[in-house]
Amino acid sequence: MTTAVLSDLAEGAAELSVWPASTSRLPHGGLAVGGVSLAEVADRFDTPVYVLDEGEVRARCRTYRDAFPDAEVLYAAKAFLSRAMLHWVAEEGLGLDVCSAGELELAVTAGFPAGRIVLHGNAKSPRDIETALRLGVGRIVIDGPSEIARLAAAVGPGGRQKVMVRVVPGISAGAHEKIRTGTDGQKFGLSLADGSAQHAVLRILGQPQLELTGLHCHIGSQITDVKPYVSALRRMVGLMARIRDAHGVVLPELDMGGGHGIAYRPGEAALDLTALARRLRAELTASCAAAGLPVPRLAVEPGRAVVGPAGVAVYRVLAVKRTAGRLFVAVDGGMSDNPRPALYGVRYAPRLIGRHTGVEPCPATVVGRHCEAGDVLATGVELPGDVRPGDLLAVPVAGAYQLSMASGYNLVGRPPLVAVDGGTARLLIRRETLDDLRSREVGG
Ligand code: LLP
Repeated sequence: MTTAVLSDLAEGAAELSVWPASTSRLPHGGLAVGGVSLAEVADRFDTPVYVLDEGEVRARCRTYRDAFPDAEVLYAAKAFLSRAMLHWVAEEGLGLDVCSAGELELAVTAGFPAGRIVLHGNAKSPRDIETALRLGVGRIVIDGPSEIARLAAAVGPGGRQKVMVRVVPGISAGAHEKIRTGTDGQKFGLSLADGSAQHAVLRILGQPQLELTGLHCHIGSQITDVKPYVSALRRMVGLMARIRDAHGVVLPELDMGGGHGIAYRPGEAALDLTALARRLRAELTASCAAAGLPVPRLAVEPGRAVVGPAGVAVYRVLAVKRTAGRLFVAVDGGMSDNPRPALYGVRYAPRLIGRHTGVEPCPATVVGRHCEAGDVLATGVELPGDVRPGDLLAVPVAGAYQLSMASGYNLVGRPPLVAVDGGTARLLIRRETLDDLRSREVGG
Protein backbone atom coordinates (compact mmCIF):
# COMPACT_ATOMS: atom_id res chain seq x y z
CA MET A 1 0.00 0.00 0.00
CA THR A 2 1.23 3.51 -0.74
CA THR A 3 1.81 6.04 2.01
CA ALA A 4 -1.08 8.11 0.66
CA VAL A 5 -3.49 5.17 0.91
CA LEU A 6 -2.25 4.34 4.41
CA SER A 7 -2.72 7.91 5.59
CA ASP A 8 -6.20 7.95 4.02
CA LEU A 9 -7.03 4.81 5.96
CA ALA A 10 -5.67 6.27 9.20
CA GLU A 11 -7.68 9.43 8.66
CA GLY A 12 -10.77 7.37 7.94
CA ALA A 13 -10.29 5.33 11.12
CA ALA A 14 -9.81 8.50 13.20
CA GLU A 15 -13.01 9.92 11.72
CA LEU A 16 -14.95 6.86 12.88
CA SER A 17 -13.19 6.61 16.24
CA VAL A 18 -16.28 7.62 18.23
CA TRP A 19 -18.62 5.35 16.25
CA PRO A 20 -19.61 1.82 17.36
CA ALA A 21 -16.86 -0.73 16.70
CA SER A 22 -19.15 -2.49 14.21
CA THR A 23 -19.34 0.58 11.95
CA SER A 24 -18.26 -0.04 8.38
CA ARG A 25 -18.15 2.01 5.21
CA LEU A 26 -20.42 1.18 2.31
CA PRO A 27 -20.09 2.27 -1.31
CA HIS A 28 -21.37 5.75 -2.21
CA GLY A 29 -20.69 7.32 1.19
CA GLY A 30 -22.89 4.94 3.14
CA LEU A 31 -22.26 3.66 6.65
CA ALA A 32 -23.44 0.45 8.29
CA VAL A 33 -23.75 -0.13 12.04
CA GLY A 34 -24.30 -3.64 13.39
CA GLY A 35 -24.17 -4.79 9.79
CA VAL A 36 -27.16 -2.63 8.81
CA SER A 37 -27.01 0.32 6.42
CA LEU A 38 -28.10 3.52 8.19
CA ALA A 39 -29.67 4.79 4.96
CA GLU A 40 -31.79 1.64 4.86
CA VAL A 41 -32.84 2.16 8.48
CA ALA A 42 -33.87 5.71 7.55
CA ASP A 43 -35.88 4.48 4.55
CA ARG A 44 -37.57 1.67 6.46
CA PHE A 45 -38.37 3.48 9.73
CA ASP A 46 -38.40 7.09 8.51
CA THR A 47 -36.46 9.90 10.21
CA PRO A 48 -35.47 11.07 12.73
CA VAL A 49 -34.56 7.63 14.00
CA TYR A 50 -32.29 6.41 16.78
CA VAL A 51 -30.19 3.32 16.17
CA LEU A 52 -28.73 1.29 19.04
CA ASP A 53 -25.99 -1.27 18.44
CA GLU A 54 -26.79 -4.22 20.73
CA GLY A 55 -23.33 -5.73 20.28
CA GLU A 56 -21.70 -2.46 21.33
CA VAL A 57 -23.86 -2.21 24.49
CA ARG A 58 -23.06 -5.80 25.42
CA ALA A 59 -19.34 -5.33 24.70
CA ARG A 60 -19.29 -2.26 26.93
CA CYS A 61 -20.99 -4.18 29.75
CA ARG A 62 -18.33 -6.87 29.38
CA THR A 63 -15.53 -4.30 29.40
CA TYR A 64 -16.84 -3.14 32.79
CA ARG A 65 -17.13 -6.69 34.11
CA ASP A 66 -13.54 -7.40 32.99
CA ALA A 67 -12.16 -4.13 34.37
CA PHE A 68 -13.98 -4.51 37.71
CA PRO A 69 -14.13 -8.28 38.25
CA ASP A 70 -14.74 -8.09 42.03
CA ALA A 71 -16.96 -5.02 41.99
CA GLU A 72 -20.67 -4.61 41.47
CA VAL A 73 -21.39 -2.78 38.20
CA LEU A 74 -24.79 -1.08 38.25
CA TYR A 75 -26.02 0.37 34.96
CA ALA A 76 -27.51 3.85 35.50
CA ALA A 77 -30.93 3.52 33.89
CA LYS A 78 -31.42 7.27 33.52
CA ALA A 79 -28.99 7.27 30.56
CA PHE A 80 -31.42 5.15 28.55
CA LEU A 81 -33.99 2.54 29.51
CA SER A 82 -36.11 0.06 27.59
CA ARG A 83 -37.07 -3.56 28.06
CA ALA A 84 -34.46 -4.81 25.59
CA MET A 85 -31.77 -2.72 27.27
CA LEU A 86 -32.73 -4.27 30.61
CA HIS A 87 -32.41 -7.78 29.16
CA TRP A 88 -28.96 -7.06 27.70
CA VAL A 89 -27.69 -5.50 30.93
CA ALA A 90 -29.08 -8.33 33.08
CA GLU A 91 -27.68 -11.01 30.76
CA GLU A 92 -24.25 -9.38 30.88
CA GLY A 93 -24.28 -9.63 34.69
CA LEU A 94 -24.76 -5.98 35.64
CA GLY A 95 -27.06 -4.60 38.33
CA LEU A 96 -29.17 -1.47 37.91
CA ASP A 97 -29.38 2.03 39.36
CA VAL A 98 -32.84 3.63 39.12
CA CYS A 99 -34.18 6.93 40.38
CA SER A 100 -37.95 6.69 40.15
CA ALA A 101 -40.85 4.30 40.65
CA GLY A 102 -41.26 4.37 36.85
CA GLU A 103 -37.73 3.14 36.10
CA LEU A 104 -37.99 0.59 38.89
CA GLU A 105 -41.37 -0.76 37.86
CA LEU A 106 -40.33 -1.04 34.18
CA ALA A 107 -37.21 -2.94 35.22
CA VAL A 108 -38.92 -5.39 37.54
CA THR A 109 -41.83 -6.05 35.19
CA ALA A 110 -39.28 -6.76 32.43
CA GLY A 111 -37.82 -9.43 34.69
CA PHE A 112 -34.82 -7.59 36.12
CA PRO A 113 -34.05 -9.09 39.56
CA ALA A 114 -35.18 -6.51 42.14
CA GLY A 115 -32.39 -7.49 44.52
CA ARG A 116 -29.82 -6.23 41.98
CA ILE A 117 -31.41 -2.77 41.84
CA VAL A 118 -30.42 0.34 43.80
CA LEU A 119 -32.90 3.22 44.17
CA HIS A 120 -31.62 6.82 44.20
CA GLY A 121 -33.30 10.19 44.37
CA ASN A 122 -32.95 13.49 46.22
CA ALA A 123 -36.75 13.77 46.58
CA LYS A 124 -38.31 10.34 46.70
CA SER A 125 -42.07 10.46 46.37
CA PRO A 126 -44.39 8.32 48.50
CA ARG A 127 -44.93 6.27 45.33
CA ASP A 128 -41.18 5.76 44.84
CA ILE A 129 -40.85 4.40 48.37
CA GLU A 130 -44.02 2.30 48.25
CA THR A 131 -42.94 0.76 44.91
CA ALA A 132 -39.41 0.07 46.15
CA LEU A 133 -40.66 -1.73 49.25
CA ARG A 134 -43.41 -3.61 47.41
CA LEU A 135 -41.04 -4.85 44.69
CA GLY A 136 -38.23 -5.64 47.13
CA VAL A 137 -35.54 -3.32 45.77
CA GLY A 138 -32.02 -4.33 46.82
CA ARG A 139 -30.91 -1.05 48.40
CA ILE A 140 -32.29 2.45 48.85
CA VAL A 141 -29.77 5.29 48.90
CA ILE A 142 -30.69 7.84 51.55
CA ASP A 143 -30.11 11.33 50.22
CA GLY A 144 -31.34 13.58 53.03
CA PRO A 145 -32.14 13.61 56.75
CA SER A 146 -35.92 13.67 56.32
CA GLU A 147 -35.89 10.33 54.52
CA ILE A 148 -34.65 8.31 57.46
CA ALA A 149 -37.72 8.30 59.74
CA ARG A 150 -40.03 8.32 56.72
CA LEU A 151 -38.45 5.23 55.23
CA ALA A 152 -38.27 3.42 58.58
CA ALA A 153 -41.98 4.09 59.12
CA ALA A 154 -42.83 2.87 55.61
CA VAL A 155 -40.89 -0.36 56.18
CA GLY A 156 -42.92 -0.94 59.35
CA PRO A 157 -42.32 -3.08 62.41
CA GLY A 158 -40.66 -6.40 61.76
CA GLY A 159 -39.44 -5.33 58.30
CA ARG A 160 -35.88 -4.50 57.33
CA GLN A 161 -34.61 -2.60 54.27
CA LYS A 162 -31.00 -2.32 53.16
CA VAL A 163 -29.90 1.28 52.75
CA MET A 164 -26.81 3.28 51.88
CA VAL A 165 -26.01 6.92 52.60
CA ARG A 166 -25.19 9.33 49.78
CA VAL A 167 -22.21 11.38 50.90
CA VAL A 168 -20.97 14.62 49.37
CA PRO A 169 -17.20 14.14 49.63
CA GLY A 170 -16.22 17.70 48.67
CA ILE A 171 -14.61 16.86 45.33
CA SER A 172 -15.36 18.99 42.29
CA ALA A 173 -15.50 17.13 38.97
CA GLY A 174 -17.67 16.93 35.85
CA ALA A 175 -17.87 18.51 32.43
CA HIS A 176 -20.48 21.16 33.24
CA GLU A 177 -21.71 22.97 36.34
CA LYS A 178 -25.15 21.33 35.92
CA ILE A 179 -23.69 17.85 36.28
CA ARG A 180 -21.26 18.44 39.18
CA THR A 181 -22.47 16.81 42.36
CA GLY A 182 -19.38 16.19 44.48
CA THR A 183 -19.29 19.43 46.44
CA ASP A 184 -21.56 21.16 48.94
CA GLY A 185 -23.96 23.78 47.63
CA GLN A 186 -25.94 21.51 45.28
CA LYS A 187 -29.07 19.49 46.01
CA PHE A 188 -27.74 15.93 46.33
CA GLY A 189 -26.46 13.99 49.30
CA LEU A 190 -25.26 14.61 52.83
CA SER A 191 -22.19 16.71 53.47
CA LEU A 192 -19.03 15.17 54.78
CA ALA A 193 -17.62 18.58 55.68
CA ASP A 194 -20.41 19.81 57.96
CA GLY A 195 -21.05 16.47 59.67
CA SER A 196 -24.50 15.80 58.10
CA ALA A 197 -23.33 12.48 56.69
CA GLN A 198 -22.03 11.26 60.08
CA HIS A 199 -25.22 12.44 61.77
CA ALA A 200 -27.39 10.56 59.25
CA VAL A 201 -25.36 7.40 59.83
CA LEU A 202 -25.95 7.69 63.59
CA ARG A 203 -29.70 8.07 63.08
CA ILE A 204 -29.93 5.17 60.60
CA LEU A 205 -28.06 2.88 62.98
CA GLY A 206 -30.76 3.71 65.55
CA GLN A 207 -33.56 2.46 63.27
CA PRO A 208 -34.11 -1.30 63.51
CA GLN A 209 -36.03 -1.25 60.19
CA LEU A 210 -32.97 0.00 58.30
CA GLU A 211 -29.81 -1.99 57.63
CA LEU A 212 -26.93 0.28 56.65
CA THR A 213 -24.81 -1.63 54.11
CA GLY A 214 -22.47 1.12 53.04
CA LEU A 215 -21.73 4.59 51.70
CA HIS A 216 -22.35 6.04 48.26
CA CYS A 217 -21.07 9.04 46.36
CA HIS A 218 -21.50 10.30 42.80
CA ILE A 219 -19.21 13.26 42.22
CA GLY A 220 -20.43 14.27 38.78
CA SER A 221 -20.77 13.28 35.16
CA GLN A 222 -18.66 13.21 32.00
CA ILE A 223 -15.43 13.05 34.06
CA THR A 224 -12.38 12.12 32.01
CA ASP A 225 -9.73 12.08 34.75
CA VAL A 226 -9.14 9.30 37.30
CA LYS A 227 -7.81 11.62 40.04
CA PRO A 228 -11.09 13.01 41.42
CA TYR A 229 -12.37 9.46 41.89
CA VAL A 230 -9.25 8.47 43.79
CA SER A 231 -9.50 11.55 46.04
CA ALA A 232 -13.19 10.91 46.68
CA LEU A 233 -12.52 7.27 47.50
CA ARG A 234 -9.86 8.25 50.05
CA ARG A 235 -12.32 10.54 51.81
CA MET A 236 -15.06 7.90 51.76
CA VAL A 237 -12.75 5.34 53.37
CA GLY A 238 -11.83 7.99 55.97
CA LEU A 239 -15.51 8.31 56.82
CA MET A 240 -15.91 4.53 57.01
CA ALA A 241 -13.06 4.44 59.52
CA ARG A 242 -14.68 7.18 61.62
CA ILE A 243 -17.98 5.28 61.58
CA ARG A 244 -16.16 2.17 62.80
CA ASP A 245 -14.44 4.19 65.55
CA ALA A 246 -17.62 5.95 66.69
CA HIS A 247 -20.13 3.11 66.42
CA GLY A 248 -18.15 -0.09 66.11
CA VAL A 249 -19.80 -0.74 62.74
CA VAL A 250 -17.81 -1.96 59.75
CA LEU A 251 -19.68 -1.19 56.53
CA PRO A 252 -19.33 -3.87 53.81
CA GLU A 253 -20.06 -1.73 50.71
CA LEU A 254 -18.71 1.37 48.99
CA ASP A 255 -20.48 2.69 45.88
CA MET A 256 -18.44 5.27 43.95
CA GLY A 257 -21.23 6.22 41.50
CA GLY A 258 -20.81 6.79 37.77
CA GLY A 259 -19.89 9.76 35.63
CA HIS A 260 -17.27 8.05 33.44
CA GLY A 261 -16.58 10.37 30.53
CA ILE A 262 -16.70 9.44 26.84
CA ALA A 263 -15.56 11.15 23.63
CA TYR A 264 -18.33 12.78 21.61
CA ARG A 265 -16.04 13.90 18.81
CA PRO A 266 -12.87 12.34 17.37
CA GLY A 267 -9.83 13.38 19.37
CA GLU A 268 -11.71 14.13 22.61
CA ALA A 269 -10.57 12.50 25.83
CA ALA A 270 -12.44 9.63 27.47
CA LEU A 271 -12.00 8.14 30.93
CA ASP A 272 -9.60 5.18 30.88
CA LEU A 273 -11.65 2.44 32.59
CA THR A 274 -8.75 0.07 33.12
CA ALA A 275 -6.75 2.84 34.79
CA LEU A 276 -9.79 3.82 36.88
CA ALA A 277 -10.31 0.24 38.06
CA ARG A 278 -6.63 -0.25 38.85
CA ARG A 279 -6.26 3.05 40.72
CA LEU A 280 -9.49 2.61 42.70
CA ARG A 281 -8.52 -0.93 43.69
CA ALA A 282 -5.01 0.20 44.74
CA GLU A 283 -6.28 3.19 46.71
CA LEU A 284 -8.99 1.09 48.38
CA THR A 285 -6.50 -1.54 49.46
CA ALA A 286 -4.00 1.05 50.73
CA SER A 287 -6.51 3.31 52.55
CA CYS A 288 -8.25 0.35 54.18
CA ALA A 289 -4.94 -1.13 55.28
CA ALA A 290 -3.89 2.22 56.75
CA ALA A 291 -7.21 2.51 58.62
CA GLY A 292 -7.25 -1.13 59.71
CA LEU A 293 -10.51 -1.73 57.85
CA PRO A 294 -11.47 -4.81 55.84
CA VAL A 295 -11.78 -3.92 52.14
CA PRO A 296 -15.47 -3.23 51.34
CA ARG A 297 -17.08 -4.45 48.12
CA LEU A 298 -16.79 -1.72 45.52
CA ALA A 299 -19.69 -0.66 43.27
CA VAL A 300 -19.71 1.64 40.24
CA GLU A 301 -22.71 3.08 38.37
CA PRO A 302 -21.88 3.87 34.74
CA GLY A 303 -24.69 5.06 32.47
CA ARG A 304 -23.28 7.12 29.61
CA ALA A 305 -20.17 4.97 29.09
CA VAL A 306 -22.31 1.83 28.64
CA VAL A 307 -24.87 3.14 26.18
CA GLY A 308 -23.71 6.52 24.80
CA PRO A 309 -21.27 5.32 22.12
CA ALA A 310 -23.67 2.53 21.07
CA GLY A 311 -26.29 4.98 19.75
CA VAL A 312 -26.53 6.89 16.47
CA ALA A 313 -29.20 9.47 15.60
CA VAL A 314 -30.16 9.72 11.93
CA TYR A 315 -31.89 12.85 10.63
CA ARG A 316 -32.98 14.06 7.23
CA VAL A 317 -32.11 17.56 6.11
CA LEU A 318 -35.25 19.66 5.62
CA ALA A 319 -33.81 23.04 4.75
CA VAL A 320 -30.49 24.71 3.97
CA LYS A 321 -30.00 28.43 4.44
CA ARG A 322 -27.03 30.72 3.90
CA THR A 323 -27.28 33.89 5.92
CA ALA A 324 -24.86 36.39 7.45
CA GLY A 325 -21.97 34.32 6.10
CA ARG A 326 -23.16 31.17 7.84
CA LEU A 327 -24.53 27.91 6.50
CA PHE A 328 -27.51 26.60 8.48
CA VAL A 329 -28.51 23.00 7.87
CA ALA A 330 -31.89 22.26 9.42
CA VAL A 331 -32.89 18.66 10.17
CA ASP A 332 -36.18 16.97 11.07
CA GLY A 333 -35.34 16.58 14.79
CA GLY A 334 -33.67 18.87 17.29
CA MET A 335 -33.90 19.86 20.91
CA SER A 336 -36.95 17.67 21.53
CA ASP A 337 -34.88 14.53 20.90
CA ASN A 338 -31.53 15.99 22.00
CA PRO A 339 -31.59 18.85 24.52
CA ARG A 340 -27.93 18.30 25.46
CA PRO A 341 -26.23 20.97 23.31
CA ALA A 342 -28.70 23.57 24.61
CA LEU A 343 -28.38 22.41 28.23
CA TYR A 344 -24.69 21.64 28.59
CA GLY A 345 -23.07 23.13 25.48
CA VAL A 346 -22.09 19.64 24.29
CA ARG A 347 -20.57 19.43 20.81
CA TYR A 348 -21.32 16.61 18.40
CA ALA A 349 -19.81 15.48 15.10
CA PRO A 350 -22.62 14.81 12.58
CA ARG A 351 -21.72 13.55 9.13
CA LEU A 352 -23.43 13.23 5.81
CA ILE A 353 -24.26 9.64 4.89
CA GLY A 354 -25.57 7.77 1.89
CA ARG A 355 -24.31 10.11 -0.80
CA HIS A 356 -20.89 10.62 -2.29
CA THR A 357 -19.82 14.13 -3.14
CA GLY A 358 -16.65 15.63 -4.46
CA VAL A 359 -17.63 19.10 -3.27
CA GLU A 360 -15.30 20.73 -0.71
CA PRO A 361 -16.50 20.72 2.89
CA CYS A 362 -17.46 23.98 4.54
CA PRO A 363 -18.32 24.89 8.14
CA ALA A 364 -22.01 24.49 8.94
CA THR A 365 -24.36 24.89 11.87
CA VAL A 366 -26.75 21.97 12.21
CA VAL A 367 -30.03 23.16 13.69
CA GLY A 368 -33.29 21.50 14.60
CA ARG A 369 -36.84 22.23 13.52
CA HIS A 370 -38.09 23.68 16.80
CA CYS A 371 -39.35 27.17 17.30
CA GLU A 372 -36.43 28.80 19.02
CA ALA A 373 -33.00 30.04 17.99
CA GLY A 374 -31.29 27.95 20.70
CA ASP A 375 -32.35 24.76 18.92
CA VAL A 376 -28.84 24.05 17.66
CA LEU A 377 -27.58 20.46 17.41
CA ALA A 378 -23.99 21.11 16.34
CA THR A 379 -21.82 24.07 15.43
CA GLY A 380 -18.63 24.28 13.39
CA VAL A 381 -19.33 21.01 11.58
CA GLU A 382 -17.60 20.35 8.27
CA LEU A 383 -20.27 19.32 5.76
CA PRO A 384 -20.01 19.13 1.97
CA GLY A 385 -20.75 22.52 0.41
CA ASP A 386 -23.56 20.99 -1.67
CA VAL A 387 -25.51 19.69 1.35
CA ARG A 388 -29.18 19.86 0.46
CA PRO A 389 -32.71 18.92 1.56
CA GLY A 390 -33.21 15.16 1.48
CA ASP A 391 -29.65 14.39 2.61
CA LEU A 392 -29.16 12.20 5.65
CA LEU A 393 -27.06 13.32 8.61
CA ALA A 394 -25.96 10.81 11.25
CA VAL A 395 -24.83 11.82 14.73
CA PRO A 396 -22.71 9.30 16.63
CA VAL A 397 -22.55 8.92 20.44
CA ALA A 398 -26.29 9.47 20.67
CA GLY A 399 -27.20 6.59 23.00
CA ALA A 400 -27.16 8.33 26.39
CA TYR A 401 -29.40 11.11 27.76
CA GLN A 402 -31.01 11.86 24.42
CA LEU A 403 -34.07 9.65 24.09
CA SER A 404 -34.28 9.47 27.90
CA MET A 405 -34.49 13.27 28.03
CA ALA A 406 -36.63 13.69 24.92
CA SER A 407 -39.68 15.93 25.24
CA GLY A 408 -42.97 16.63 23.52
CA TYR A 409 -41.95 20.15 22.46
CA ASN A 410 -43.91 21.46 19.46
CA LEU A 411 -45.77 18.13 19.34
CA VAL A 412 -43.16 16.77 16.95
CA GLY A 413 -43.28 13.35 18.65
CA ARG A 414 -40.38 11.36 20.02
CA PRO A 415 -38.36 9.32 17.48
CA PRO A 416 -38.35 5.54 17.32
CA LEU A 417 -35.48 3.35 18.47
CA VAL A 418 -34.16 0.57 16.26
CA ALA A 419 -31.76 -2.08 17.54
CA VAL A 420 -29.17 -3.36 15.08
CA ASP A 421 -27.11 -6.51 15.44
CA GLY A 422 -25.59 -9.10 13.12
CA GLY A 423 -27.07 -7.54 10.00
CA THR A 424 -30.66 -7.23 11.24
CA ALA A 425 -32.65 -4.24 12.45
CA ARG A 426 -35.60 -4.49 14.80
CA LEU A 427 -37.88 -1.81 16.13
CA LEU A 428 -37.68 -1.54 19.92
CA ILE A 429 -39.65 1.65 20.49
CA ARG A 430 -42.06 2.97 17.86
CA ARG A 431 -42.36 6.62 16.88
CA GLU A 432 -44.64 8.77 19.04
CA THR A 433 -47.66 9.85 16.99
CA LEU A 434 -50.12 12.69 17.25
CA ASP A 435 -52.67 10.08 18.39
CA ASP A 436 -50.38 9.17 21.33
CA LEU A 437 -50.19 12.82 22.31
CA ARG A 438 -53.89 13.41 21.72
CA SER A 439 -54.87 10.38 23.78
CA ARG A 440 -53.57 12.07 26.93
CA GLU A 441 -56.03 14.93 26.58
CA VAL A 442 -59.12 14.05 28.52
CA GLY A 443 -60.58 17.52 29.11
CA GLY A 444 -62.15 20.31 27.05
N1 LLP B 1 -25.21 7.39 39.58
C1 LLP B 1 -25.89 8.47 39.98
C2 LLP B 1 -26.32 8.57 41.38
C3 LLP B 1 -26.19 9.50 39.07
O1 LLP B 1 -26.85 10.56 39.49
C4 LLP B 1 -25.78 9.37 37.72
C5 LLP B 1 -26.08 10.42 36.74
C6 LLP B 1 -25.08 8.21 37.34
C7 LLP B 1 -24.81 7.24 38.30
C8 LLP B 1 -24.63 7.95 35.93
O2 LLP B 1 -23.79 8.92 35.43
P1 LLP B 1 -23.10 8.70 33.99
O3 LLP B 1 -22.16 7.51 34.13
O4 LLP B 1 -24.16 8.38 33.01
O5 LLP B 1 -22.42 9.97 33.69
N2 LLP B 1 -28.21 14.57 31.58
C9 LLP B 1 -26.78 14.73 31.76
C10 LLP B 1 -26.20 13.72 32.72
C11 LLP B 1 -26.87 13.74 34.07
C12 LLP B 1 -26.33 12.67 34.96
C13 LLP B 1 -27.14 12.51 36.18
N3 LLP B 1 -26.73 11.48 37.03
C14 LLP B 1 -26.10 14.64 30.39
O6 LLP B 1 -26.80 14.52 29.39
O7 LLP B 1 -24.89 14.74 30.29
